[in-house]
Amino acid sequence: MKKILVTGSDGLLAHQLKQIAPGDFEFHFLGRAEFDLLNSDLMAQRLSELQPQVVINTAAYNLVDRCETERELSWAVNATAPQQLAKLCAGKNIRLVHYGTDYIFDGAKKSPYAETDTTNPLNHYAAGKFAGEQAVLRASPENLVLRTSWVFDWHPVQTKTFIHTVLKAVREGRTLKSTTDQVSVPTFASDLAQWTLALLRQNAGGLFHAVNDEGVSRFDWAKVILEESVRIKLISTAPPVEPVLSSFFSSTMRRPDYTVLSNTKLSKLLGRNPGSWRGGLRKMLAQMK
Ligand SMILES: NC(=O)c1ccc[n+]([C@@H]2O[C@H](COP(=O)([O-])OP(=O)(O)OC[C@H]3O[C@@H](n4cnc5c(N)ncnc54)[C@H](OP(=O)(O)O)[C@@H]3O)[C@@H](O)[C@H]2O)c1
Repeated sequence: MKKILVTGSDGLLAHQLKQIAPGDFEFHFLGRAEFDLLNSDLMAQRLSELQPQVVINTAAYNLVDRCETERELSWAVNATAPQQLAKLCAGKNIRLVHYGTDYIFDGAKKSPYAETDTTNPLNHYAAGKFAGEQAVLRASPENLVLRTSWVFDWHPVQTKTFIHTVLKAVREGRTLKSTTDQVSVPTFASDLAQWTLALLRQNAGGLFHAVNDEGVSRFDWAKVILEESVRIKLISTAPPVEPVLSSFFSSTMRRPDYTVLSNTKLSKLLGRNPGSWRGGLRKMLAQMK
């Protein structure tokens, strides 16, 4: 039986790994207090105590805008810590699974990005996440990096997904403004958790783009969320969504506009198509109801 240590136990993806946690693996979920990515002595101590065969690192600094102001902290969590963790794991022959982001691309391509495409991070979050994933890949060919995008799912306390943002605007009677020029792939965390375990079972190593099917703009994503919420009677009517360009939000941070990832490599290894995010959306809204 493989012993797996999961970091960031209170996060969205870790919660879904907890829900799935199949009996042929022995899972240990550790939160920030027990496994702080900023404390390498503590990480080393926990690895020695638990002696896992695999570490799944779901912990990250994900507040993209805040990374611009909290540069040192976000770099420490997203870049330096994965590098230290990868070194510790390599020294103990532990396979490390880590997650990257679609934001490492600059959006110039306008067709789905493959694992072999050239990266060009446009902001501090993306640069930090890129440094982190590369350090993990360099540390061992057995390590696994799954790049993903627009992760969503139900969580007992966390309410920060785009779906929550859309439904909050409806509850508060606010007109929702959503971007037509930002296109990516919503990814159901429960699916991402399943793919992670499937890749581990196959002893896969290296880099994978791990997203559902169907790139969509924020504007169209918001409209589908509202339509589906009306259909299952979570809300009574769908208010109009106002289409805007990213420049409307006047952020000084540069964001890539098109970051659809191709899941062809993942499909081949899974032996099936990862499937659309639409099924995940229906499941999440049903749970919210
Ligand atoms: N969510 C997305 O849309 C998205 C998109 C692309 C890539 N990803 C990547 O996918 C992975 C999983 O994301 P997620 O959505 O599950 O993230 P999440 O819900 O934000 O969870 C991340 C967890 O990391 C913890 N954490 C932060 N700093 C830490 C530290 N110093 N030590 C230990 N734990 C720390 C957080 O704890 P606190 O609750 O205490 O802050 C949080 O529970 C991450 O690598 C993320 O970058 C996510």
